[in-house]
Amino acid sequence: MKSVVIGFGGALPQKCIKNDELPASLNTSDEWISQRTGIKQRYVISEGESTSTLATKAAKEALGFAKISPNDVDLIVVGTTTGDYTFPATACVVQKNLGINNECPAFDVSAACSGFVYALDIADSFIKTGKVKHALVIGADSFSKILDWNDRASCVLFGDGAGAIVLKAEESTDKGIQYCKIYADGNYTDCLVTSGGVATTRDAGVVTMKGREVFKFAVEKFYDSFQELMENNNLTIDDIDLVVPHQANVRIINKLIDMLKIDPRKVVVTIDKHSNTSAATIPLALNEIKNTIGTNKNVVLLSMGAGFTWGAALIRM
Ligand code: UT7
Repeated sequence: MKSVVIGFGGALPQKCIKNDELPASLNTSDEWISQRTGIKQRYVISEGESTSTLATKAAKEALGFAKISPNDVDLIVVGTTTGDYTFPATACVVQKNLGINNECPAFDVSAACSGFVYALDIADSFIKTGKVKHALVIGADSFSKILDWNDRASCVLFGDGAGAIVLKAEESTDKGIQYCKIYADGNYTDCLVTSGGVATTRDAGVVTMKGREVFKFAVEKFYDSFQELMENNNLTIDDIDLVVPHQANVRIINKLIDMLKIDPRKVVVTIDKHSNTSAATIPLALNEIKNTIGTNKNVVLLSMGAGFTWGAALIRM
């Protein structure tokens, strides 16, 4: 049984903040942010918007693309660390918003920026075991709510958004998820961590980050997990049609391009427009390219986030 991608969707908040619209008190500049990160702008939620509203919008679009009705969905998995509540899960809020009343399981996965690839692997496993026919897999985050807006080293990097795909169980097909492997190393929890939590401040706190450590780790794990994916699938770099890496810093992506010696035109970059939307970067990027991917293409997804968590997937579209 294969999990075939049959729908894509994306959602961004209404409000867009360009680099030169950031508060002067941050003492930053469009030049610094563009050169060091590739980011030109970020979208930030306002009144009436939240992780669940973005996730719902992306999900509706993905269901529309897939031409299936909400009650055909048998599983909802949302990768997020900025859900509207500690509980219930954002996936349950999305289930309600979509009017799904078939009692399908719905839950969130906490793997920070790797949330979407983690969610994908879980949904794929449900499909492979025959439990599920249609799965809605979402990556959604609103980091603007957990940023220290006085810390220029972190707040300029992130934005809000959501992306979704629909997976369908299909037999006898070359398409679909060929490989997905997720990883974690909890020894690095202090490198990218919120300053609060249930156990300490009883609130979410704000993002704190050892930027250089995260940068180095991301480059290393993107490369290692990519090589493992190619070895496991007997592929060479020429067999790969597209790479969709997590969008944290364009310099991380450029290092990967150099190390892999891959044609840069095969590597999808959206960080300039979207910034780092955490679990949403990969599905939002997929949504951007949905009409140009074509068929029989080998697409690699690479993620890396707090934990540290990381993952690699190979999908034949
Ligand atoms: O999804 C995972 C989430 N996080 C990441 O992926 C982050 C990965 N790390 C990075 O992308 C980079 O390490 C950063 C973009 C965070 C920082 O870039 P860097 O080239 O490693 O800069 P740095 O931290 O070494 O700082 C260099 C200088 C410092 O000034 P001094 O000490 O040299 O005078 C910083 O204070 O840049 C300064 N700086 C800024 N200046 C203007 C840091 N942030 C800013 C800013 N505007 N926004």
